Amino acid sequence: MPPGMARLALVTGATGFMAQHLVPDLIEGGWKVRASGRRGRPAWLPPEVAYEAADLAAGERGLEALCDGADTVFHLAGATSSLSSAEQMHESNVVATTNLVAAARTTGVRRFVHMGSTSVYGEEVPLPQPVLESVEPHPSRGYGKAKWLAEKAVWAAAADGLPAVVLRPVSVFGPGAVKLLASAILDVAIESFAGRRAIDIEAAPVELRLVHVADIVGVAIHLAEAEGAEGQAYNVVAPWYPSSVELAGMLAALFAMPVEETDRAPAGLSLEARREAWETMLASGMQKEILFTEERFRFLKKANRNNRLSVDALLSTGYEFRYGNESDLTTGVAETIDWYRQRRWIV
Ligand SMILES: NC(=O)c1ccc[n+]([C@@H]2O[C@H](COP(=O)([O-])OP(=O)(O)OC[C@H]3O[C@@H](n4cnc5c(N)ncnc54)[C@H](OP(=O)(O)O)[C@@H]3O)[C@@H](O)[C@H]2O)c1
Repeated sequence: MPPGMARLALVTGATGFMAQHLVPDLIEGGWKVRASGRRGRPAWLPPEVAYEAADLAAGERGLEALCDGADTVFHLAGATSSLSSAEQMHESNVVATTNLVAAARTTGVRRFVHMGSTSVYGEEVPLPQPVLESVEPHPSRGYGKAKWLAEKAVWAAAADGLPAVVLRPVSVFGPGAVKLLASAILDVAIESFAGRRAIDIEAAPVELRLVHVADIVGVAIHLAEAEGAEGQAYNVVAPWYPSSVELAGMLAALFAMPVEETDRAPAGLSLEARREAWETMLASGMQKEILFTEERFRFLKKANRNNRLSVDALLSTGYEFRYGNESDLTTGVAETIDWYRQRRWIV
């Protein structure tokens, strides 16, 4: 690349959550960006970013043009179980990735950064912990299975010469997130709105794990450039693992409410009462962005026998977490709640 000439990044999944953080950071880092989603151009995209709407699962035709001239592909497009059927998950993860890696190999990108998932490890077969990226994955659900088949398509292309890295993030939170921790934040907002005095939480703690979207974006850009990083997968999880009780306490405190531990299950408001409060909040101007889950605090109950993951591979590349310890993650959650309040995603 001649000095002074910006490298071109192709970002897929540009209408999704993570891309809203990745694209601005790439531009700030001096990259030129071409973005692609399935829907039309998102309003937030800066005018200097070229945008192409493409269904990556529809076939390879056109994808070479999409990859043409790209130095690096950041492949964020995918579909999760919260919002898609099993068939859509297969199409948007496995078929889409297979098509895109074929095109990227033909046009010859310098690096292909694939957004995988720790769901590939599964939750049923116990794995040695902390889980290393080199273990044989045993995905237990449809999403994990689709993400693993998509990742295998990347490794097959890598065996044929595509310089690829794979990120395996856990549940991601931060401004713009609409599910997982976001849904738990909505649950606290609902109970605060409904006038509950305290947030009830089952006393038996569940160990959880999180990562801030700023770290996902930070790792993606870091691994796009880190020398010798290709050919490997990298777990991406904050090294501090909160318990469900700690996380509920953190959320409740940000709504100025105490937490009460209880042995009663289910704790807190009933589904009917939660739904009624949620509908009143929407009628009073709250934006319907965050996913309402029928199960209260669904995210806080996600026990996983393979919860602990090694991040040694990532740290050995020189990456430093921005939101890695308890204090920084607490700040990250508080900032996220402020962001939701400012946009009336919660009231
Ligand atoms: N968010 C998390 O907690 C998390 C955790 C681990 C891994 N991941 C992985 O990280 C990636 C990005 O996550 P995210 O939260 O940003 O996802 P998201 O908000 O659900 O966005 C998904 C994106 O993929 C695009 N897409 C889906 N199917 C497509 C297709 N057939 N052709 C072209 N584009 C398609 C969507 O386009 P349209 O909206 O225009 O249809 C959208 O831009 C995904 O691969 C996900 O599996 C996410």
